[in-house]
Amino acid sequence: MALLLTRAQRVVVLTGAGVSAESGTPTFRDAMTGLWASFDPQQLATPEAFERDPELVTRWYDHRRIGCLECLPNPGHLALARIEQEITSRGGSFTLLTQNVDRLHQRAGSQNVVELHGSIIVWRCTKTGELITPQPEPMQSFPPRSSCGALLRPDVVWFGEMLPEAALIAADRALADADLFFTIGTSSVVQPAANFIFVAKRNGATTCEINPTDTAVTRWIDLVGRGKSGELLPQVVERAFGPEKA
Ligand code: OAD
Repeated sequence: MALLLTRAQRVVVLTGAGVSAESGTPTFRDAMTGLWASFDPQQLATPEAFERDPELVTRWYDHRRIGCLECLPNPGHLALARIEQEITSRGGSFTLLTQNVDRLHQRAGSQNVVELHGSIIVWRCTKTGELITPQPEPMQSFPPRSSCGALLRPDVVWFGEMLPEAALIAADRALADADLFFTIGTSSVVQPAANFIFVAKRNGATTCEINPTDTAVTRWIDLVGRGKSGELLPQVVERAFGPEKA
């Protein structure tokens, strides 16, 4: 993987919840802990659930939002930011396609981040579409409302909703001429992200996967790194680019 990174010119990385696991945020398919353990995320992350009980859904999302704000980027996030810096400083292109909504990639320094499933850090007015970033503390009243009085919702993609068109266009554009594709910390069960590896392969990219376990796409991957992204990525980066410059 390190050798591939030293030679690649157009790198695309797809990440999922596994990249944030070592920062302490539960992966999507892990049970939520504590207060929310009795709720199935896939039942709460839907427009129907929001319609039925906006207070419950916004309390759950605000609980997760605060959890994300309390987490720190881990060495895997930082390694991805370093890869982008090394590739772009030598004139290459780097695109980070993430299914994560926690903005830890951006806090680690990643620049070209495409949020396929939106962000839990930003909320939007259900009437005007206006985006707001709530204060980094628990909301005081539920369900929260925007200045016009309409309900606020997290700016995330819920089950059954379309992904942001701009994100899909950016992903297609990056995958069209990628020469190296990484899928990291995702079970690769949710479309359209799960299909990106096949688009990259069809376009001639070498494909790599970093995950402690096999996923739905492992058998099509050229190079598999079996392990945690927070451990493997820093090793790959060190071998490819040398120690972090002070
Ligand atoms: P999942 O919870 O489905 O998968 C997490 C993946 O991370 C699994 O393959 C784990 O093996 C792997 N993993 C766990 N710890 C890891 C670590 N330390 N390093 C690397 N990998 C690790 O989460 P996602 O694949 O991100 O969509 O789920 C994709 C989408 O499904 C989510 O974005 C969400 C959900 O539907 C929406 O909410 C629209």
